[in-house]
Amino acid sequence: MSQAINDKQLVAVHAANLVEDGMLIGLGTGSTANYFIEELARRKNEDGLQFTTVASSMVSTIKAQQLGLDLVSVEQIRQLDMYFDGADEVSPDMTLLKGRGFDLVKEKLLANASEQFYVLIDDSKLVTRIGEKFPIPIEVAPFSWQMVLRSLQQIGGKGDLRQNSGGDGLVITSHGSLVLDMEFDSSLDGEELNDALNEIPGVVEHGIFYQIATRVLIAENGVVGEL
Ligand code: A5P
Repeated sequence: MSQAINDKQLVAVHAANLVEDGMLIGLGTGSTANYFIEELARRKNEDGLQFTTVASSMVSTIKAQQLGLDLVSVEQIRQLDMYFDGADEVSPDMTLLKGRGFDLVKEKLLANASEQFYVLIDDSKLVTRIGEKFPIPIEVAPFSWQMVLRSLQQIGGKGDLRQNSGGDGLVITSHGSLVLDMEFDSSLDGEELNDALNEIPGVVEHGIFYQIATRVLIAENGVVGEL
């Protein structure tokens, strides 16, 4: 095993050991997913583990390619064995908030199509309610953003279109969507928000992952546990 240097890497290395010969593995996106991809590559090269991967983003595709992993595209598959990804927030009922990146749509698609979805976090991601630390990212078809924003405001949402870091342009996702970053009243829990967002026309996808996670692995001070 490579030397684990922080909790994200530790949980990623731990998770990579769950992969078995012949599996089709989904690769998440983010710094934890990157550690996971690196450890998978090490297992392929040093242990001779044989598996195929499918990536949730261009960034993860490039990383997997550079490390010599076998890749298939999302279009080629109907289901997969295991999907591994990080999260921005995780509540006690294993509801997740994801999507600070640009690849929410593929992340949720792969997580949902996977026999098992492992969430890999350090303890800084644990919250008591979804939306506690971050706004909820909501991908919208560009032409629909004003109508979607109105619908979100009608259920108490406050927020606006996500801008680029320079503040002189709007963020466009990998799928050509705009992103509304929204905050909601703390009385709405993850399930209620998930249900409400699923009902709004013009929403392409949103960052609440409700009842999709199989297991949440948590690294804290050098020890891996489970929610
Ligand atoms: C990507 O869109 C996100 O959902 C990431 O999975 C999430 O932000 C976790 O990222 P880190 O592993 O970098 O903390």
